[in-house]
Amino acid sequence: MANVLIIGGGAREHALGWKLKQSRSTRNLYFAPGNAGTSALGENVDLPSEPVNTKNADAIERFIRKRGVDLTVIGPEDPIAQGLGDRLARAGHAVFAPSAEAARLESDKAWAKDLMRAAKVPTAESRTFDSSEQALAYVASQPPPIVVKAAGLAAGKGVTVCETTEEAEAAVRAAMVERAFGAAGERVVIEQRLTGQEASVMALVDGDNLFLLEPAQDHKPVHEGDRGPNTGGMGAYSPTPVVDESDLAAIQGQILVPTIDAMRRSECPFRGVLYAGLMMTPGGPKVLEYNARFGDPEIQPLMMRLKGDLYQILRATVAEDGPRLDAVDLGWDPRPACCVVLASAGYPGPYEKGKPITGIEEAERDEDVRVFHAGTRWEGESLVTAGGRVLSVCALGDDLADARDKANAAAERIRFEGKHFRRDIGARVLSENAG
Ligand code: AMP
Ligand code: GLY
Repeated sequence: MANVLIIGGGAREHALGWKLKQSRSTRNLYFAPGNAGTSALGENVDLPSEPVNTKNADAIERFIRKRGVDLTVIGPEDPIAQGLGDRLARAGHAVFAPSAEAARLESDKAWAKDLMRAAKVPTAESRTFDSSEQALAYVASQPPPIVVKAAGLAAGKGVTVCETTEEAEAAVRAAMVERAFGAAGERVVIEQRLTGQEASVMALVDGDNLFLLEPAQDHKPVHEGDRGPNTGGMGAYSPTPVVDESDLAAIQGQILVPTIDAMRRSECPFRGVLYAGLMMTPGGPKVLEYNARFGDPEIQPLMMRLKGDLYQILRATVAEDGPRLDAVDLGWDPRPACCVVLASAGYPGPYEKGKPITGIEEAERDEDVRVFHAGTRWEGESLVTAGGRVLSVCALGDDLADARDKANAAAERIRFEGKHFRRDIGARVLSENAG
């Protein structure tokens, strides 16, 4: 029986923990820092994972030894990019996270673009700039629309899709001159805008082989109808008709396999979960971005649908001993799952915390509904908000519309001051099907 430490405190980590708890192989689950939801699955521990410095990494390592942790799963990008996985792996521990070098696919968009170009992976044409003068001159020379991206990690906020040259100039200045994203915006990648539907396809990569998870679709803009500023994700569903079998074959053969092969050739093999954010263009799928971790909120509907033993799956991805991934059954519930994110007033801008939350039990009375916590904590006996994204309300349904309706009905039952959510998760494909 295995003990598992999960680093992170979002709905992604709650959903992973919920599935790990169902594994026949797991005994104790620890979450650092976790949230009010994860405290019902295991123990929340006060072990800072950021910044990844000697003090914090040593404390995590001591905890792993003391509690006999068999596998550490790192959810968020920052500790991965800062090398927490490398430090734990060097100390001989099994860890589900790529090396910091391999995670440059996510943490350094300029590097990722170079790799994609060399490996002939379909993606938007782009140029990288270290100087704001050169970036501005380039923007002036290109017909809009155009996309300006901070090259480093910017919590999903470093990308601006610009309709006009003026907007693009402002985006370059914000990143490079005003330093809106700190060091992450010292370099920018400027690329052609792609059009189509977006999809997220994740693959487990054991260093050599790759196993696709079911495709999902995220909804990043804060308001219904895909309006307003981008967030970390306001909802997601899986599977998505936006990606069919032939698309999946193209995504695997023309995108993911050439990427991991190129990484192996450049001596930074990828191990963990590779997330491709894709635009399904008329010319086929193209990469918008790579992430080196599970997507949040995409993994929440995927965990609702996963039937296989998550511990065995994660362990087989990263451990040299034991069964290989091809011997482990993933297994998916064919029913679609929809996830609706409940956010605090003001999110993705500044928001207040400490608002009492009620109605979760009522919402979960429907056996197809599960509520994963993100920004929540216990204040004495009462559950209160503690972040921008507060809860991920997930439901399985007979079809996508049914899953969405159940998730929305459950979301209505939950109350906290300033709650807002999108009722239109999946609407782009539902209205297309109807029309
Ligand atoms: P990223 O963080 O790179 O995935 O970008 C965030 C969002 O910006 C994506 O989900 C897309 O909606 C949008 N985006 C990024 N790159 C492009 C592009 N080349 N063309 C159109 N939209 C894009
Ligand atoms: N949902 C997008 C992400 O995890 O980056």
